[in-house]
Amino acid sequence: MFAEMISHLRRAIPKDLEGLWQLELACFEPGRLETRRTLQRSLKNPKHEVWLCAHPIETAQATAALYLRVYRKTVRLHSIAVHPSAQGQGLGSLLFDHARKRTQTLGRSYLSLEAEQRNTRLCSWYARHGFRVHRELPNYYAPDRPALRMRLTLDKRPDCCP
Ligand SMILES: CC(C)(COP(=O)(O)OP(=O)(O)OC[C@H]1O[C@@H](n2cnc3c(N)ncnc32)[C@H](O)[C@@H]1OP(=O)(O)O)[C@@H](O)C(=O)NCCC(=O)NCCS
Repeated sequence: MFAEMISHLRRAIPKDLEGLWQLELACFEPGRLETRRTLQRSLKNPKHEVWLCAHPIETAQATAALYLRVYRKTVRLHSIAVHPSAQGQGLGSLLFDHARKRTQTLGRSYLSLEAEQRNTRLCSWYARHGFRVHRELPNYYAPDRPALRMRLTLDKRPDCCP
């Protein structure tokens, strides 16, 4: 059922802001929340890509979202979120596949991200998807809250998908 949700994946538009904000509130602790304003800016910034899995009937409801930022050589996976009611059923992994394909389509060589080092469950999940530690970033989230910058190296395949 949730794997089917990926067929509802689409680029988010400004009117999706409320659904994305509700998803953010459901998925992240207060200290890790984006502000509504940051989400709004991402929706308008041509170098940001926001992808959304919306509920097929209640279209205002976001089930999962992927935030990508496109740089000269790399695509940064800024955030990935699956609603708690849909977690653990493969949707996050399908969003990863999409991020990988977008990186190749955009002709970039790396997909990169930062992960909180103490979140070993999340870091291992990224490692299972092929990400390798590129750098350690001390005090990245706060004093004594280091991050790992992780990278997935990709072959460029500009013709692979939209
Ligand atoms: C991390 C997340 C996107 C995974 O989505 P998902 O659809 O549950 O992922 P899948 O079903 O494809 O894979 C499950 C794996 O995701 C990881 N995972 C799931 N929930 C997690 C959580 N709350 N924290 C850390 N990792 C988690 C685990 O490695 C899990 O495998 P395991 O149960 O064998 O340990 C989702 O749990 C989520 O949105 N979490 C909250 C937001 C977040 O922390 N985002 C990442 C930082 S931007």
